[in-house]
Amino acid sequence: MEKTGKLWGGRFTGSTDPIMEKFNASIGFDKRMAQADIEGSRAYVKAIEKVGLVTKEEMEAIDGGLVKISEEWRTGTFKIIPAVDEDIHTANERRLKELIGTAAGKLHTGRSRNDQCAMDMRIWLRDEIVPLRGHLLDLIKVIVNRAKMEIDVLMPGYTHLQRAQPIRWSHWLLSYAWMFQRDAQRLDQLTARVNVNPLGCGALAGNPFNVDREFLTQELRFAATGGNSLDCTAGRDYIAEFLFWSTMIMIHLSKLAEDLLLYSTKEYGFTQVADAYSTGSSLMPQKKNADSLELIRGKSGRVFGKCAGFLMTLKGLPSTYNKDLQEDKEALFDAYDTLTGVLQVTTGVVSTLTIHPETMKAALSPDMLATDLAYYLVRKGIPFRDAHGLSGGVVALAEKKQCPLPQLTVQDLKTVSPAFEDDVSSVWNYENSVEQYTSTGGTSKQAVMKQVQQLEEWMASVA
Ligand code: ARG
Repeated sequence: MEKTGKLWGGRFTGSTDPIMEKFNASIGFDKRMAQADIEGSRAYVKAIEKVGLVTKEEMEAIDGGLVKISEEWRTGTFKIIPAVDEDIHTANERRLKELIGTAAGKLHTGRSRNDQCAMDMRIWLRDEIVPLRGHLLDLIKVIVNRAKMEIDVLMPGYTHLQRAQPIRWSHWLLSYAWMFQRDAQRLDQLTARVNVNPLGCGALAGNPFNVDREFLTQELRFAATGGNSLDCTAGRDYIAEFLFWSTMIMIHLSKLAEDLLLYSTKEYGFTQVADAYSTGSSLMPQKKNADSLELIRGKSGRVFGKCAGFLMTLKGLPSTYNKDLQEDKEALFDAYDTLTGVLQVTTGVVSTLTIHPETMKAALSPDMLATDLAYYLVRKGIPFRDAHGLSGGVVALAEKKQCPLPQLTVQDLKTVSPAFEDDVSSVWNYENSVEQYTSTGGTSKQAVMKQVQQLEEWMASVA
């Protein structure tokens, strides 16, 4: 230690190439886990006191020092020494020694940075998922509230980007609430796998001093104790899972962004993004761009890149800890920060969006009711396959007569099928069209309200 100034310096005689030092260091980014690192050390010193590795006095000195260091990080007064502080673990221990002297050297007994860094990450992620989950629930709430308020607004529903059938605007909105609900559920499910204690596994083989790992689990509020020291020190699937989770929700968010970008063009004119989430062009004075949505869409590529990149880092790694694993942190933090920003901006965009119900309505056209015409015939007892063909015949007739479908008389319609009667006029009504879909998950007002109710109940149960 004296020779190199490094905490692991005992067997080294030469000094480290400064380029290597920079290359190797993780302090620049893992300092984010400073508090988790201290929390872990405070629990660990209690555990080693229980087995007599430190005296009560030493434990108190160590704990007091750790509290002080925590305060330094909190107030921004902790001074990193770049040439010495390789990572957050060594930095905190170096500072502890400065503060309390040689007793500091006992804290790491039976511990390794391998179980320590795994512990830091798990504590950090478990705790930071809480605000992220809050942002996600806020977004769902905004969507559900809007859907409730704007339930009477109709718009075209699209398949293949072609106008297909009339739907409720709320139905479109809620389709995203369901996607985000699953994302929230997935987040809760993966949190259970994050919240597992790896501390007390040492470098790879476990703890030789009979340290009570279950005690550590309790102290650190973990839900379970990791069952295998090799797996605990090197397992990173919970990081990969979080990165996949981030990717999946970004895919949903990018799809929402794309829909809104389209709906906000002059060509559609259904929605307008608030000024607060738009920017102008430096060249074209008339331009107002929904940059917020483009960035949301764009950042999905970035997050997927972190996921794919880290999976490649993991592929084929030999057991157990390898320095490759240090790559986990930047990927995790970047995905986390991106999601934190994206979720809040999306909530802002959705809650301030202006909608143009008249333009949405004007985009509905009678040809979108051709399916309804077939259903009309089905209700008169005609098999669907035949009804589909007959409705197609009506569309062809309207084309031949160069008139919109509703302008065909009952006489005209009877030339296609005698089943058409006066009541056919009720088909040419968009409201009636959406109201037919009364089964669960459909576009009728009652079916959409049922979704609102289900989502509200779910939100109340998870809040
Ligand atoms: N900075 C390292 C990381 O984040 C800590 C673990 C170092 N362990 C080791 N055996 N060199 O992965």
